[in-house]
Amino acid sequence: MKAIVSDIHSNLPAFEAVLADIESKNIDEIICLGDIIGYGPQPIECIDLCYDFEANLLGNHEEAVLIGAVGFNPKAAAAVDWTRTQLIREGVPEEEKNKRWNFLGEMKLRHDLEGGVSFVHGSPREPTREYVFRSDIRDREKMEAIFSGIDQVCFAGHTHTPGVFTVDGDYLTPQDCGGEWPIRKTRAFINVGSVGQPRDGDIRSSYATFDGEKVSFHRISYDVEKTVSVFSGIPELPSYLGLRLREGR
Ligand SMILES: [Fe+2]
Repeated sequence: MKAIVSDIHSNLPAFEAVLADIESKNIDEIICLGDIIGYGPQPIECIDLCYDFEANLLGNHEEAVLIGAVGFNPKAAAAVDWTRTQLIREGVPEEEKNKRWNFLGEMKLRHDLEGGVSFVHGSPREPTREYVFRSDIRDREKMEAIFSGIDQVCFAGHTHTPGVFTVDGDYLTPQDCGGEWPIRKTRAFINVGSVGQPRDGDIRSSYATFDGEKVSFHRISYDVEKTVSVFSGIPELPSYLGLRLREGR
């Protein structure tokens, strides 16, 4: 059994709650689809929890910290700039800093398992940056291009909204499919949602587990107010980024 997490966004209370749930299920193989950092107030603490994962993929926020926040909105860019200052902070041993930078620099764009199972941050054709939204099921050209890069199933994050896109043009929320999806049913593109900044109206953290045959979606409650209060102590981070966690938007 594997756990698939994505879009933690420096939200430590959310990440710790999800990791505790994963541990309670006796799962020790974790695949992270990227965006460990960005937006939130505890990037260092979140990075330091990821070193032993089976795979860590590059998200657009790691890419932005590494090479610049191209195409980011001003609030997201401000958080990227602040995150970078935390990674180069004075008073932290060089060895520690280098370990974190090397970790970010070595993140992969894609992870593959036997049986046509793949993992990306955004989409198979543009791994770090492309968004695949529910409304895209009407864009046949786009979905055909996405599915041309999928053998059986591809897991992604990036939109912060969990759900299943099928090759036949259907879209199912986790509720629509009873919280589970058997991957041999048909080819699918599966979004596992976001640990640290859910945007589907449910404030709980989202992640998935995968046993090789079926995917299960999970929602985990965490102390949202704790994260909001850490935000409020960092004036460089736009307060909107903390307050939106109370809405799940
Ligand atoms: Fe994200």
